[in-house]
Parts: sequence; C-alpha cells; structure tokens
Amino acid sequence: MITQSAPLTAAIRDQFAHVASCPFQGERIFFENAGGALTLKSVVETSATFAAIPDNQGRDNPASAALVEVIKQAKADMALFFNTSEGKFFVGESGTELTFRLIRTAVMGSAAGGVVLGSSVEHPASRSAALHWAEKAGKPYVNVPHDDATGQVTPAAYAAAVTPDVRVATILHTSPVTGIANDVAGISAAIRAVAPDAFIFVDGIQHASHGHIDIAAYDIDGYVVSPYKMFSRHGYGVAWASDRLTAAGIETLKNGPAGNWEMGTRDTGAYATFSDVVKYLDWLGGEVSDATDPRARIEAAGSAIHAHEAELTNAMIHGTGNLPGLADLPGVHILGGIENPDREGLVCFALDDVPATTIVDTLNAQGIRTHIRRADHYSGNILTPLGLDAAVRVSLCHYNTMDEVRALLTAMKDIAG
Ligand SMILES: Cc1ncc(COP(=O)(O)O)c(C=O)c1O
Repeated sequence: MITQSAPLTAAIRDQFAHVASCPFQGERIFFENAGGALTLKSVVETSATFAAIPDNQGRDNPASAALVEVIKQAKADMALFFNTSEGKFFVGESGTELTFRLIRTAVMGSAAGGVVLGSSVEHPASRSAALHWAEKAGKPYVNVPHDDATGQVTPAAYAAAVTPDVRVATILHTSPVTGIANDVAGISAAIRAVAPDAFIFVDGIQHASHGHIDIAAYDIDGYVVSPYKMFSRHGYGVAWASDRLTAAGIETLKNGPAGNWEMGTRDTGAYATFSDVVKYLDWLGGEVSDATDPRARIEAAGSAIHAHEAELTNAMIHGTGNLPGLADLPGVHILGGIENPDREGLVCFALDDVPATTIVDTLNAQGIRTHIRRADHYSGNILTPLGLDAAVRVSLCHYNTMDEVRALLTAMKDIAG
C-alpha cells in the first residue's frame, strides 16, 4: 500500500476550495463527497473567466475562435480521461438528464421487438429511464438482481438473464449508496456474448472521482458522469456516445450538422472546467509516478487515488491506533460487507441502537459532515432488502486524511456508547 506523503497531501488540499471549512458552518470535515466533491480552485477561476465572456461560438471573430478552440481542447482532454478515440463527447444539463437522453435514444433507436435489461442495483436515473422508455417502446424490462450481501451485480448474474433479443442494457459502475463497484468490462462481455448488437449504457457518476475509467476496454455505447462529483462544478453533465449510438437516430436540429448531440449554444466554461480536472489529474499523476505519457499519468493518478482511499476506508472500518473501527461498534451493519475489495472511498453503515438520523446530526454538530440515506426512491432498492430504513453514508476522496478519519472514529466511539 502506498501511503500518500504529508507534503503531497498538503499540495493536493491546497488545490481545492473549502477543504477544511464551510462558508456557512465554519470548520468542518468533509465526508459528503458522494453528494458533490470539493471543487478545484482552478475550476472556480475558469468559471468566472468564461461567465464574463459574451461571445457565442461559430462567429468570425477572435473571441469566438478562442471559445471553439477551448471546446475542442476539452473534448481532447475528455478522450484522454475516458480513454477512447471513438464516439462523441458532449455536455448536457446534468448526469440524470444525459442518462435519460442516451437511454431514450438507445431504446427508441433500437430494432423492433426485444427487451431492455438492467439491474436492481442501479441508481433511479438509469433505472427510471430504462423502465420509462422500455414501456413506451413496448419492450419488456428484464431485471438482473444484485446481491444484497456484497451490494454488487456480477457478470454471472447478467449472463443468467441475458437473451439474444436484448436491445438495450444498462450497467451501474459504482453505487452511491454502498460505494461498491461493479465489473463493467465483465458485465459488458457477458451481455455481448449473447446479444452482440445490444446498446450498452453505463452510469459512471459515482465512480468517476475514484480513478480509472477505460471506455476502450468496456465495449459499450454510452457513459455518463456528473462533473460536480469529480472536482469540477454544478450545472452540467458529460456524456460519451459511441458512433453506433449516434447513428441510431438522435434528436437534433433539422438540416443541421449530422450527429450533433449538443442542444443549442454550448457553455464554453463547462467544457473548460473539465479540462481543469484533467490538468489536475495529469499533475497528480506526475507527482506519484515518473510517467511522461499523458494517459499513463492519468492512470497513475487513478491508482494513487484508489490506494489512498483504500487506506482511509480500511482504517474507518477496522480502526486505527487505539480507536475502534466502525466494524467494531455494537450492532453495526456495514453495507457491501466488511471486507469488499471493490469498495471505492465510501462506507455506509447503520447501528441497531442509534438511529442514522441521530448519528448524522451528532456528527454534523461536531463539524463532521456525512449524509443519511433513507429507504426512499433513491436508496430503497439497496436498503429495504437489508431491512434498514436508513443508513449513514461516509464518503471520501483522495484529499481526505487519516486525521479526519480519526476524528470520525473518535466521535463514533462516543455516539455508539
Ligand atoms: C450513480 C449515480 N447515478 C446518477 C446520479 C444522479 O446524478 P445527478 O444528480 O448529477 O444528475 C447520481 C448522483 O449522485 C449517482 O451517484
């Protein structure tokens, strides 16, 4: 296990806004990254810069040409980050909106008949879109059940449900409730083995900040992220669509450029802030490796992020020094299991004797921000089968520290009594 050095941690934290304090609450430890990660300072500056520019793209003037160049560079940066030289990148209103758009295009553009395949582990964004459009298109929806104990859906589970008439299949990369990742390449291969022409959509929204996305290795047709959950800002989502999906009959302006997914005038600032994220990861990759190749640096950053987060979540679960871990607390349930190698920077737990809402409130009062997940339309699919009406989500990123984990465990020792 690589331990992130103190100077590197300091250099990382220095690049983010509001790391140790909140403008509304004051000093606080931020363990609510799955609700929205910290924002890079460069993203804040870039947003202000582009917000002040009145010009539109596609005009014959220097400002317009500069904007077009920024978008072109951002798309190249996206290709690097997501690792694909094929397909199209574009921004939309949000991750959810793009998820609906891609799934709608896939279902409505697919051949007549057939079924839509998805899993009970999914976030309602992809699940609702697939159910809605499957019904509209008259294609039965087939559910692949997830394993309640691991919080995962496996390639074997998809293999057991896939039929040659699957037209569209959806996959969740990582759950925002359990933090457990699924094997996207394995699931995609299981689907393609039986339904080679299916459109395959992946929700990467929770996974994106935790390192390693490799579209070239997945053999898929769509991938969506929400940049505010990966160090950029609110207000836009990013999608990738394969050329095959783009050819499926997208909604676009009549007589406009073919294959244009973008709806109206683009926010150049949104694109530019994605470049800031890629630039940051390139910097981080250079700090943790000798790599000079840009993709190798992104990969190195991803590995370092994963290693540091694993160190923190292991300490959170098993304890550190004299402090008991969450797994040692009386009557504890840790979602996804205590040992799960596919955990990505998130520990979600419940105690038999202390309600989740009391835990979250008490932590908040001590300046430790976590979040309650309730058995509602967002998280009921995961919590209800476990017999839980709520749980506490502690979600972190690579800028969080072992001192912050100690503060959480110290507080939890008291709360659990
Ligand atoms: C896996 C997953 N899918 C979809 C969403 C919805 O994303 P957004 O609210 O950014 O549209 C989230 C939000 O946290 C998520 O974690």
